Amino acid sequence: MTEAFVGDLGEALVGSAPPASARKRVLPSPPAAVARDRTETASCPERPAAKADVPLLEVKDLFVTYENQKTGERTEAVSGVGLRVAPGEFVTVVGLSGCGKSSFLSAVAGLTKPSSGSITVAGERVTKPGPDRAVVFQKATLLPWRTVLDNITYGLDLRGVPKKEAKRKVEKYLDLVQLRGFEHFHPGALSGGMQQRVNLARALVTDPHLLLLDEPFAALDAITREAMQNELLSIWDQTRKTVLMVTHQIDEAVLLSDRVIVFSNRPARIIAEIKIGLPRPRTAEVRYNAAFDELVKNIFSLIHKSAGNKAGWFYEV
Ligand SMILES: Nc1ncnc2c1ncn2[C@@H]1O[C@H](COP(=O)(O)OP(=O)(O)OP(=O)(O)O)[C@@H](O)[C@H]1O
Ligand SMILES: [Mg+2]
Repeated sequence: MTEAFVGDLGEALVGSAPPASARKRVLPSPPAAVARDRTETASCPERPAAKADVPLLEVKDLFVTYENQKTGERTEAVSGVGLRVAPGEFVTVVGLSGCGKSSFLSAVAGLTKPSSGSITVAGERVTKPGPDRAVVFQKATLLPWRTVLDNITYGLDLRGVPKKEAKRKVEKYLDLVQLRGFEHFHPGALSGGMQQRVNLARALVTDPHLLLLDEPFAALDAITREAMQNELLSIWDQTRKTVLMVTHQIDEAVLLSDRVIVFSNRPARIIAEIKIGLPRPRTAEVRYNAAFDELVKNIFSLIHKSAGNKAGWFYEV
């Protein structure tokens, strides 16, 4: 079972300066029409008060380097990343495969030891996994001998939460992830999407400050993936949990996030920070919004440029 970590919101800022070769670019705010829409979403629940000076997650000048014990070969995965995430913010990191996204997330989770730099969650230094953070990985990591209900309560059991209280807490999340009626199924009798929903519920039920998602839907087919993205949108609207997600699906990042951080090729540095001003609450229809397409294209373009790809339909930003 992998549990860990995060969460705070306000004006989140990119931290340490990247080298000149990978200068950070902040794209313009969304079109006025989009910004206007946002103010019209009166049904949107209030977020926690922004405390820009006290971010929920603060990463300073983070380096992650792996060393092969046999050969001594070193692989630099993350190079001087700085990031602040405010309470209630949904931030996604995108970048090419192998650029260092999971290494970064794993360091925030406390699962990978950084070579240098610091990570704090709600002001507490991260040195190992902790109950303030919860991680959902690409593949559901459920215990096959436990039922859906017992998988979701697993983290609570470990903390000694009485059975009755644990069951009460789980009730809310069963509905949230639409698994009502499947409480007594075992993971083997669930589809991939359902298993990942159990995983999400298991992470959420512990009420972590920070939810860390590493390509949570990558193993799913396109249709199920889209359904899960819509569910995550709805779950986030209801919980307003602080989320740090990594993905290489640009449209997924734009759909879900308040802010997208673009990583360079390995070793990962931040090359851009893009605020996503699409209206909330968001629904699947936002995908048909022209501003959505524009954001996706911009991010694709930045990643391709960082990879040195000049060809294609990407336009200058
Ligand atoms: N435990 C490890 N030991 C040694 N090298 C590692 C380890 N984990 C990752 N790496 C290396 O670090 C680099 C970054 O890997 P990472 O998994 O962070 O990339 P990623 O951006 O998450 O890629 P993907 O999108 O394919 O998941 C890669 O070169 C990888 O080989
Ligand atoms: Mg990865």
